[in-house]
Amino acid sequence: MTTQSQSRYQQSYQQSIATPESFWQQQAAQLNWYKAPHTILQQQDSHHYQWFSDGVLNTAYLALDSHIEQGRGEQTALIYDSPVTNTQQRFSYRQLRDEVAQCAGVLKALGVSKGDRVVIYMPMIPQAAIAMLAVARLGAVHSVVFGGFSAHELALRIDDAKPKVVVSASCGIEISKIIAYKPLLDDAINKAQHKPEHCVIYQRPQLLADMQNGRDLDWQKAMLKAEPAGCVPVKATDPLYVLYTSGTTGKPKGVVRDNGGHAVALHYSMQAVYNAKPGDVFWAASDVGWVVGHSYIVYAPLIAGCTSILYEGKPVFTPDAGAFWRVCAQYKVNILFAAPTAFRAIRKEDPEAALQQYDLSALRTIFMAGERLDPATYQWVVDKLHKPVIDHWWQTETGWPIAANPAGLELMPAKPGSSTLPVPGFNVHILDEAGQPVKANEQGYIALKLPLPPGCLTTIWGNDERFVDGYLASFPGYYASGDGGYIDDDGYLFVMGRTDDVINVAGHRLSTGEMEQIVASHPAIAECCVIGIPEPIKGQQPLALVLIKNGIDVDETILEAELVAMVREEIGALACFKKAVIVKRLPKTRSGKILRKLLRQIADGSQYSVPSTIDDPASLPEIAELMQARGLVNGG
Ligand code: COA
Ligand code: AMP
Repeated sequence: MTTQSQSRYQQSYQQSIATPESFWQQQAAQLNWYKAPHTILQQQDSHHYQWFSDGVLNTAYLALDSHIEQGRGEQTALIYDSPVTNTQQRFSYRQLRDEVAQCAGVLKALGVSKGDRVVIYMPMIPQAAIAMLAVARLGAVHSVVFGGFSAHELALRIDDAKPKVVVSASCGIEISKIIAYKPLLDDAINKAQHKPEHCVIYQRPQLLADMQNGRDLDWQKAMLKAEPAGCVPVKATDPLYVLYTSGTTGKPKGVVRDNGGHAVALHYSMQAVYNAKPGDVFWAASDVGWVVGHSYIVYAPLIAGCTSILYEGKPVFTPDAGAFWRVCAQYKVNILFAAPTAFRAIRKEDPEAALQQYDLSALRTIFMAGERLDPATYQWVVDKLHKPVIDHWWQTETGWPIAANPAGLELMPAKPGSSTLPVPGFNVHILDEAGQPVKANEQGYIALKLPLPPGCLTTIWGNDERFVDGYLASFPGYYASGDGGYIDDDGYLFVMGRTDDVINVAGHRLSTGEMEQIVASHPAIAECCVIGIPEPIKGQQPLALVLIKNGIDVDETILEAELVAMVREEIGALACFKKAVIVKRLPKTRSGKILRKLLRQIADGSQYSVPSTIDDPASLPEIAELMQARGLVNGG
C-alpha cells in the first residue's frame, strides 16, 4: 500500500461525502445521457432526495445501443452457460440488442408503455435478461420474481405491482428436477385480485406449457412477428424496476430503483469496487431474481461494456464441485462474484479443491456478498486460489455495495470477517438505541447518513409510509440498515447480522415473521416463534418453536411434516424450512414480548444472560435441552 495509492481511496471517499454533488456529477458525465443532468441532488423534504432530476436517459440504451454506437457491437455481451441443459450460447452486443428490441416490440404490441409494470417470473435463461432489458427499453418498470417462490408469493407481488403483462417460461431446471413454472403462474393469477392482460411464455423443450387462449402468447412465435421497438427516453427519476424483498412482516417490500441514479452508481461501482474494464469477463453466480442478479448479471456489466455470464446451474452437482472452476477457465472469467454459501458447498464436496485441471490465470479477484463471509470460508478460498478475496456488504435496498475493499481505487489489507471500508458515497455510522454514535469497536446499529448516494431505493412501491417508517424514522437523518456491527480503530466495518426478524438462508433473505404467520395458522398451534439458527453450509436455517393448544395431542414428527409442507406451499422450497420443535412455553418479557435474541443465543451455543424483565426464566434451560436433544445447537 503506497501513500499515493492510499490517498486515492481517501480522496474519493472524502470528496463523495464533503461535496457529493460535484463527485456524482463527474461520475454521471461518463454516461451517454440523452440530456445530461444539471440538477445533481435535490432534497424534497426531510426524508426524500432525488438524484439527477433533470437528466434524461434510457438504461437499456446505455447497456446495449450505446456500446454498439461506440464500436463494441461484435464483442460478446452475454454468455449463457447451462450445465443442466448442456447449452452454451453467446450473444454479441448487437445480437443482444436485436433480441431486446424484438422483445420490446412484443411487449409494445401488447400495450406496454412507459410506467407500466411487467412481472418477470423466469428461470436462469437469457430470455430473463432479454425481458428485463426490453421492459427498460420501453421505459416501463419490471418486477422480477425469483423462480423458487411459490404461487402465493407470486400472487402477492402481482397484486402489489399490478402488471399489464407477465413474462414467464414453461419450466425451470433444478439440477435434474424439472420445475413446471406455468401451473404456478396460473395458480398465482387465480389467487391474485389483479389480473394481468397477457402472459408471454417462453416454451422450453424440457416441458411445454399449456396455454390459455386469448391471454397467453408463445414467446418464440411472438418474437418472429414483432416489430423491433426503439428506446423510450425517461427521466432519471422514473422507476426502472421494483424488486420485492423480505421485511419483518408477511408482506414483501417493493424496493423502487430509479433509472439515472442506478446507472451512474452501477457504472461507478464497476470501476471503483470491482476494478472492471470494458471487455472484462464478469461472472456474478447469482440469479436474476435477486438484487445481485439485477445489478451484476444484467445492468452493471453491460453498462460497463463487459461480458456477463448467466449460469443456469449450481456450484455443486452440475455436475460436480469443479463447476465454478470450469466456467472460470472456459470463459477466462476476470471477476467472480458469489455467495459464501456456494464456496462452503464446494468445500464440503471437494475439500482439497481439485483445481489443477483448470487454468484460472485470467481470474483476478473473487467478491463475496449476500451473507456474512465467515473467516474459515474466506481463508479456504484464499488458500486454494491465491487471489484477492473481497467480502463486500450490501442490500436489495442499496442495489450496490455499501462497504468493500475498493479494488479499483486501491486494494487495502484484508481483515477476515470485515467487509473493509465504506464505499465512496456511503456515510456509514454505528449508532446506539438512542441514535447516538458509539465508540470504535463497540457494536450497534449500522446506519447510513442521508442523503444516500445514487442508486439506492427511492421509496417502497405504493407505500411511501412504509419506506419512511421502516428505514428513516428510527434514527432521524439516517437510513437504518437493519444490520448490526461495529467499526474498528482502522475504520474497518464488521457486519455481524440482522437486528430484525430477517434471516439469511444460502444468501437468500427471508422473513421469520412471515413464517410465523404460516406456522401459527396450523389448527393445533397456540403460539409460535421462528428464529434463524446456524447451518454449516447455508449459514442459517429457520427453526420454529411451537406451543400446542391445550387439550390437543400431536405427534411432533407429523406436525413438523405438516408445517414444512405449509411453508413450502406458501413461500417456496427456497425457505428451507425443515425443523419445528414443540415447547411447553416460550420465554417472554412481563409485557408478553418473546425474547427471540435469547433463543438465537441458545441456538448459537453462545453465552446469554437472563434479563430481569423475563416472566418465566425456567423456560430457557427447558428449550436449550430440547434443542440440544434434536442436534439443533450450533449447527448440530
Ligand atoms: N426454482 C425453483 N426451485 C428452486 C429454485 C428455483 N430457481 N432455487 C432453489 N429452488 C429449490 C431447490 O430445488 C430446493 O428444493 P428442494 O428442497 O426440493 O430440494 C430448495 O429450493 C432449496 O434450494 P437451494 O437453497 O438452492 O438448496 P440446494 O440444497 O438445492 O443447493 C447450494 C445448495 C448451496 C448449492 C445452493 O443453496 C446454492 O447454490 N447457494 C448459493 C445461492 C446464492 O448464490 N445465493 C446468493 C444470491 S445473491
Ligand atoms: P439482500 O437484500 O437479499 O441482498 O440481503 C441483504 C442482507 O444480507 C444484509 O442486510 C445483510 O444482513 C446480509 N449481507 C449481505 N452481504 C453481507 C456481507 N458481506 N456481510 C454480512 N452480511 C451481509
